[in-house]
Amino acid sequence: MKKIQAIRGMNDILPEDSALWQYLEGVIQQTLAGFSYREIRFPIMEKTELFKRSIGEVTDIVEKEMYTFLDRNEESLTLRPEGTASCVRACEENGLLYNQTQRLWYMGPMFRYEKPQKGRYRQFHQVGIETYGVAGPDIDAELLLLSYELFKKLGLTHCVELQINSLGSDVARSEFRQALVTYLQSHKDALDEDSRRRLDTNPLRILDSKSEATQRLLDAGPSLSDYLDEESRQHFAEFTQLLDACGVPYTINNRLVRGLDYYNRTAFEWVTDKLGAQSAVCAGGRYDNLVAQLGGKATPAVGFAIGLERLLLLLQGEGSVPSLGTVDVYLAAVGNVQAQALSLSSEVRRALPNLKVFMHCGGGSFKNQLKKADKSGASIALILGENEAVAGTVTVKYLREEKPQLTLPQGELVEVLAEINN
Ligand code: HAM
Repeated sequence: MKKIQAIRGMNDILPEDSALWQYLEGVIQQTLAGFSYREIRFPIMEKTELFKRSIGEVTDIVEKEMYTFLDRNEESLTLRPEGTASCVRACEENGLLYNQTQRLWYMGPMFRYEKPQKGRYRQFHQVGIETYGVAGPDIDAELLLLSYELFKKLGLTHCVELQINSLGSDVARSEFRQALVTYLQSHKDALDEDSRRRLDTNPLRILDSKSEATQRLLDAGPSLSDYLDEESRQHFAEFTQLLDACGVPYTINNRLVRGLDYYNRTAFEWVTDKLGAQSAVCAGGRYDNLVAQLGGKATPAVGFAIGLERLLLLLQGEGSVPSLGTVDVYLAAVGNVQAQALSLSSEVRRALPNLKVFMHCGGGSFKNQLKKADKSGASIALILGENEAVAGTVTVKYLREEKPQLTLPQGELVEVLAEINN
């Protein structure tokens, strides 16, 4: 019979990789806790309307990338393509934005029907960070400091670059959009096909075009920075001063616009040249109008999301990963000694909860078990044979060091292991 395969672009995370995922998630969570951010969890599915109203009807995500279906009640639901919209919905619904500020994070799978390639998947994982209720640029800077600290901890600062821009107010952006469209209309023939299509739908995305001819055309056209309103200009100036003060390096990219409609003012991306076309590892910005747009009271907001698969690819190629063994001690149980082996391993785990103790199950010769112990990556094998069981002893064998093995009373084992483990 033909075997059923996984859905294209949706990957299994196998045991050999999950240790790295756990390590990465651990470093992220530790960093977030250090900044006093709290976790929020929300469903992986929402009413389709939520994403349409927040991300924008004429964005790539909403137009062609959402996993949308009717449930049994004929209601249109969508697997979340991102977390910001759900986060706002959850906060509003649960009164988290009422007269208070919030600094939140979430982590989990997102779904976009994109063409899969290295660093781009249909189910991928993000850690998202969202803050609510703080209008000033200090929180924008804190978010970038947070991401920078994370890259530092992972040994990745040498392969990522922070690009920042200001998108200004809605009014400023719409004036600029008008000027851009007028300019590009008169040079329509020189535009690449994609950009020509966007001219009528989402002209700001043309700034993102990969076509060199289009980029050259843009060089001579209007610049978003000339259209910024005074408050946004001021906000951006203070934001860059704060980045300078806390030593976060950045470049200003006036062409940086985001693919989701809810942003205003600060927009940023950490990009890399190590992942081919998928250059953005972490991206976000301010979205001060979204809460009101979704029916809440106007609330300033800013946040970002990191693509965990992309971060992992960087980490595997460029970062510093500590050794991530899953076995420290391998207990070989040779002969009819399983009951004693089980209770001895339990005793060790109880006394030394950080030690990873693998108890051999399924029998087999002494030689065979020691081979497996060696392969497991453990640094110590404990040998419990029938002689040891009768005598109440256990043998400690060093697998990675030239040290003589020793046989000791089982009652002394915890003490010896604790010392070795130190
Ligand atoms: P985004 O730019 O759409 O923003 O995605 C953020 C990050 O998710 C990207 O920079 C990338 O690392 C990762 N990513 C996106 N699509 C894929 C994919 N198909 N495969 C693998 N990784 C992917 C947002 O999602 C906003 N919600 C970010 C945000 C939060 N803005 C404010 N708060």
